[in-house]
Amino acid sequence: MSSITNDFCQALGLALPIVQAPMAGSQASAMAIAVGGAGGLGSLPTATLSLDALERELEALRQAHLPAYNVNFFVHQQPTADLRREAIWQKLLAPYYAELDIAAHDVAAGPARAPFSHAAADIVERYQPRVISFHFGLPDDALMARVRSWGSQIWSSATTVEEARWLEAKGVDAIIAQGLEAGGHRGVFLGFDGDRPDFSQQLTSMALIPQIVAAVRVPVIAAGGIANAQGVRAALALGARAVQVGTAYLLCDEATTSAVHRAALVSPEASRTALTNLFTGRPARGIVNRLMRELGAINSAVPTFPLAAGALAPLKAKAEAQGKGDFSALWAGQNVSGCQTISAALLTRQLGAALSLTSPR
Ligand SMILES: Cc1cc2nc3c(=O)[nH]c(=O)nc-3n(C[C@H](O)[C@H](O)[C@H](O)COP(=O)(O)O)c2cc1C
Repeated sequence: MSSITNDFCQALGLALPIVQAPMAGSQASAMAIAVGGAGGLGSLPTATLSLDALERELEALRQAHLPAYNVNFFVHQQPTADLRREAIWQKLLAPYYAELDIAAHDVAAGPARAPFSHAAADIVERYQPRVISFHFGLPDDALMARVRSWGSQIWSSATTVEEARWLEAKGVDAIIAQGLEAGGHRGVFLGFDGDRPDFSQQLTSMALIPQIVAAVRVPVIAAGGIANAQGVRAALALGARAVQVGTAYLLCDEATTSAVHRAALVSPEASRTALTNLFTGRPARGIVNRLMRELGAINSAVPTFPLAAGALAPLKAKAEAQGKGDFSALWAGQNVSGCQTISAALLTRQLGAALSLTSPR
């Protein structure tokens, strides 16, 4: 295995400065193990896992004996259901329920995505991953202290320089600079108004990476729009110590990406992505589909994250059974050119090809 790396990656035993982005719903330990085996850092997303599933996936990672892997958690507050808002949302969806012949009582109750918790920490502490990454900020001090006590590195995403400074002040070990191009949920957490998200102050990778690198002393990992080795080199040239790549891995053999999502990624529609809060209640980038076109990608009637997903679940299931992604979150970044139906190990090696870090930092 060719090895091209820097002190940040060496400390984690990585041969390549490539982090496979955690992608809840689209991959699990199999992809993380393949990426780790190729010299990158594989990630396990946990937001949609039950505690039992979390334990199973961690056990699989342990048995792979990788030098390092990353376990990723969302850190939102669990909201209490707002019945008035839920009613407005269900009214908006009512015509679709009628069209697909779904009864209102089929609506699943409860949140579909769980934040980091002491119950999850009880399981994770038996595995002590080298890296724990967070999205939407950081957990409370007690949970942070637990993670620190295991010796795990703590990473989190920043979408602005201000967020990066906030994370550094809280003592994170690395910051993931998430450019506006990125697929999936925006990690935005400071000054965030869920009803009226303002993306006008969110920066693209080219502007965000060097400004975060200049603003903080901790290593910066670039995320958003990186799809091939040239993109990796560009991010490193801007001062990033590693890159976190998501979208490009979505068609890999180990991905659990659904059939409708895979079809959308290889269709001409994939060139049209937008930020939408429709599917979960928080803005995320996905391929524009029927629901986004008809309700508007950002709609203030949507219940608070992550409750929006409940009422959509039966629509999604029924439409997907008919081969349609009309009600599915088709997460993708602005650059789908790196998506290939190959193994995640090969993609990792391709992303890391021909790197020359002339001045390891
Ligand atoms: C399908 C998909 C799911 C994602 N899920 C998560 C997640 O569970 N946790 C997380 O921290 N980031 C998640 N992200 C965001 C990635 O961490 C990363 O910021 C993004 O993929 C980088 O941009 P790119 O998609 O252009 O490579 C997801 C991205 C995608 C495409």
